[in-house]
Amino acid sequence: MPSIIYRSLLLYKLGLLLSYRSKYRKRYTTVAALVPDHVRVVDYCCGDAEIYTSHLKHRDVAYLGLDFNEQFIARLRDQRGVPCQVMNICVDEPVPADFSLMMASLYQFIPAHKALIDKILAYSKRFILVEPVRNNTESSCWFIRKLAYLLNDPGDGMKPHRFTPASFKAFLENYKDRLITLIEGDVEIVAVLKGDLDRL
Ligand SMILES: C[S@@+](CC[C@H](N)C(=O)[O-])C[C@H]1O[C@@H](n2cnc3c(N)ncnc32)[C@H](O)[C@@H]1O
Repeated sequence: MPSIIYRSLLLYKLGLLLSYRSKYRKRYTTVAALVPDHVRVVDYCCGDAEIYTSHLKHRDVAYLGLDFNEQFIARLRDQRGVPCQVMNICVDEPVPADFSLMMASLYQFIPAHKALIDKILAYSKRFILVEPVRNNTESSCWFIRKLAYLLNDPGDGMKPHRFTPASFKAFLENYKDRLITLIEGDVEIVAVLKGDLDRL
């Protein structure tokens, strides 16, 4: 059974607002600024697809959100008009894209995260990877730590692993020849990687 925040788009958004607070809007404006017009964006583990509804919807961008949360996808598609479909990235093939995107999701796939990135890079011209490196699971407050763990089961079990600034940058070393942009925020690091479909 997924944690309560993964059963309601509203609760999910509330959870993110509480977690990111003053940095909430910036996480989307930073990513939106990296996406040019006239491209196809495939958003893996799209969650509530906020990047689309708040920033990409009115631009000339072809968006596709993918997530294994069937309830989220049905509501996004039927109630909010978001182009999206159910997909389990662990078993399904990625979708070719000018810009693949994955926000705040890579930690869920540790220790299989590198294989997952390589799989998506094979279908991308560019890959925007956004990963939290400061987490409520490290809070000095016992209650917040406990809550952060209890709320992080998307449906297939709680996720025990998280990145730190050092461990995420060490991971990115695997991709140093592909790294185009690195933006180090207080809460998240954004990396733009060159994908296999980029033949420039
Ligand atoms: C922390 S949320 C991030 C959502 C969104 N990208 C954001 O930044 O707000 C993680 C998302 O990954 C999705 N997810 C987890 N495992 C997945 C899998 N194997 N395939 C597809 N989606 C998955 C969850 O359903 C959830 O929506």
